[in-house]
Order: sequence, then C-alpha cells, then structure tokens
Amino acid sequence: MLMLLVFGALLLHKVPLSGQDGAGSIPGEPVYDYSSIHLPEEHVPFFLHNNRHVATVCKKDPHCPYKKHLENLKSCWGYEKSCKAEFRFGYPVCSYVDMAWTDTVESAEDIFWKQADFGYARERLEEMHTLCRPEHTGDSSLACSRYLQYCRATHLYLDLRNIKRNHDRFKEDFFQSGEIGGHCKLDIRTLMSEGQRKSPLQSWFAELQSYTQLNFRPIEDAKCDIVIEKPTYFMKLDAGVNMYHHFCDFLNLYLTQHVNNSFSTDVYIVMWDTDGKIRVTILARSTEYRKILNQNELVNALKTVSTFDVQIVDYKYKELGFLDQLRITHNTDIFIGMHGAGLTHLLFLPDWAAVFELYNCEDERCYLDLARLRGVHYITWRRQNKVFPQDKGHHPTLGEHPKFTNYSFDVEEFMYLVLQAADHILQHPKWPFKKKRDEL
Ligand SMILES: *[C@@H]1O[C@H](CO)[C@@H](O)[C@H](O)[C@H]1NC(C)=O
Ligand SMILES: *[C@@H]1O[C@H](CO)[C@@H](O)[C@H](O)[C@H]1NC(C)=O
Repeated sequence: MLMLLVFGALLLHKVPLSGQDGAGSIPGEPVYDYSSIHLPEEHVPFFLHNNRHVATVCKKDPHCPYKKHLENLKSCWGYEKSCKAEFRFGYPVCSYVDMAWTDTVESAEDIFWKQADFGYARERLEEMHTLCRPEHTGDSSLACSRYLQYCRATHLYLDLRNIKRNHDRFKEDFFQSGEIGGHCKLDIRTLMSEGQRKSPLQSWFAELQSYTQLNFRPIEDAKCDIVIEKPTYFMKLDAGVNMYHHFCDFLNLYLTQHVNNSFSTDVYIVMWDTDGKIRVTILARSTEYRKILNQNELVNALKTVSTFDVQIVDYKYKELGFLDQLRITHNTDIFIGMHGAGLTHLLFLPDWAAVFELYNCEDERCYLDLARLRGVHYITWRRQNKVFPQDKGHHPTLGEHPKFTNYSFDVEEFMYLVLQAADHILQHPKWPFKKKRDEL
C-alpha cells in the first residue's frame, strides 16, 4: 500500500517555464530547464506525453535535446486519462492463475496491475479530492486520495513547539488541533469520513485529523520561524533495517513521484518517526591537545545502541554559526566531550540532559560546578586504569601536564558510563517520552 505523503511544501514554485511560446527568451539559450525532468532518456517520451506544455516548448525550441522523442508522444505510463492501452509502458503477463486470488488470467493481470504496477497510481489519482480549498492566491491547500493514503499540501503550517513524543514510531495524537493546518476552506466532514483505515503505514489520517482551518496566513502574517521552500516528501518507512523491507519504501517514493508528476531530486525527504530516541552528541576538538584518539571506536560502540541517535560535532564558529551550535546543544540529551571550553555549552542543554566530561584532566570542579549550577546531571571518567594518555603531556612552560596530551578510552567502560547517563534521562520527570508507570 502506498503510505506516502507528498507535501509540496511551503511556497511552491511553478514549473520553471520562461515564456511558454518562446517569446522573451534569450536567443541561444534553451527556454526550458530540461535537466529538471530528471528521468532516464528512454522515459522522456512518457514524460512529454503527460506534460504537453513541455512538448510544445520543445517543439519550438531549437535547443531542445529531446526533439527525437516528439514523434513518440503516444507513449504513456498507463495511469494517464489520455493513455491508450496499446501505448502504455507495460502490462503484466500471467501464465497461470493462482486459485486463491482469482479465476481468470485476465483478472489476475488486472489485479497485479492495480496493486503492484502503474494501475495503483491510476486509482490514487482518480480518488484525489480537495479537502482544504484555497480561496485566494497564496492560500494553503490540501488534497488527498481515499483514506488519506496519499496527500499533497501547499503552504502547510506545522507547529512543532510542543512535540509530545513517546516510544511509538507513529504516535497517533502527535498533532493537536491548531498545530497542523492551512489558510484555506476546510471540508471537515469529508476529512473526518476518511478515517476508516486509520492505520499508521497505510494512511495519514492520524496526523491530518487535526488539520485546522487557520484564521491567519502563516507566511504573510509572519507566524513561522522557519519557512521551507524546497518541495518536501514526508514518508513513513516500513522498515529501514534490511533491503527487502526498505525496498517497499523506495517503490512508494517512486510511485509518489509519478502521482505528483515530478521527478526532481532537489527535494527534502522527511522520514516521519515520532519515537523518542536519546540524542547523543560528541564534541570533537580540533586543537592540538585533548583529542580523543579512539573516537571512531567509541562512536561505533554508541551506534550499536538502537535507541541512540549519535552525532559528532566540532563547534568551530567559522564553520558552524553560534546559533546552529546552540540548536544542536539544545537538541542533545547526552553531551560528551573532553575537558575544555566547549563544555560550557552544557548551559544550553535541556533540563533532563546529562553531560559526560569524558576526562577532566585533574581539573575536577570546573564543569562539575557549572553542571550543578545549571541543574543538569554530570558524570566523568573514574577508573584511572582504563584511560590511556598518549604521553605525560607538555605544557609550553610548566612541563608535564595532563591537559596537554591526547587520550584513548576503554570502550567497555565508556559504554557503561554512557548507559548510566541514559538511565538518568529515562528516569527524569521532564523527559518528554517517559513511559507511564502503569504500562508495566
Ligand atoms: C509536486 O508537483 C508540483 C507541480 O505540480 C511541484 O511544484 C512540486 O515540487 C512537487 N512536489 C515534490 C515533493 O516534488
Ligand atoms: C595530539 O593529537 C594532535 C592531532 O592529532 C597532534 O597534533 C598532537 O601532537 C598530539 N599531542 C600529543 C601530545 O601527542
């Protein structure tokens, strides 16, 4: 089943067509950006069949690289209204009938075409209906196929300020009324009647049932902190764990491109998942001292924990602006770093976070106190026989000093400490994904 949502996101752009009739074009320049078609050459005739305005431009444009395909304009994928059966891209051929499913070869082929081929796209396209109607230019819109299996929205408003996640991959009440919506005329009755197949992987009903007709215009009325202009796909993955299951996701994405008749890869893909993972950030250092020599080994160990979402950052302001640094820190649950000024970022951690000063280099109070004042949990390395300095350290003037060398760490001990920090977070009353006690 198709389980994808195309949200041609905020501020949709029109097909980049400069002067449909060739007027106003610069001589010597192609009038259409043909590279935006982004299909294998042999698929271009099918695209031109379904995009006659592009074919018309191509015909008039001496620079069009697809002129030879203009003779084949009858070729079609199979889902277009104008598509004649004899010209379609393909059609299944069955040599025998599996009794359990159907009793004639023809109906077996028809079922296959509708469930696993372009016939599927055709049915979704036929089902498309508008749920939120734009009334003025710049308004939002929402249109979906039946049971909200496939939807397309423009100028979609999302309020993610109070996200309430838990350990469900697809939390059903993720959006409350007013947190998702648009400035358009909402047909709430039709929307609510699409809820009969409210299944996480087969419908967007759970997410869209709270779609709200807004009395403001999100962009013009400056209600958004971030406006995403790039076309965006939202998809719920069946499973990314193996090729077999993940392949269903690729197929869905590909079919969605067909349903939306757009094949550009200059898009965002949001993998919808409301599960609350523990976000672990390792602060790397690009200075000469206090490098984590076996950082890769530690990161690989962290990545074996499926409930961790791990990232390594280097807070160099020239490469990563301060605001971006704060954004990362504030979206971190376990912040790990060597003794160093960068740990001051712990001030911006969320309340339930833990900071792990990997090694304090015998400067015990500095970040311990800062963490205490901020009210976040603090841990540091304890077992001296499990940390390995590169050498005794060389201060430019003072001689040997533990702050002036690099270190490697015992992986097992490291994981033991990180898992302790994770436990602290899971128990913290403010941890947003805390399971209710009565679940046991
Ligand atoms: C869907 O199609 C429209 C054109 O009709 C396009 O502007 C938009 O970018 C497409 N969406 C995606 C996600 O590609
Ligand atoms: C620590 O590592 C850095 C970068 O790899 C290196 O330049 C520096 O010399 C090392 N320090 C010591 C004390 O070995």
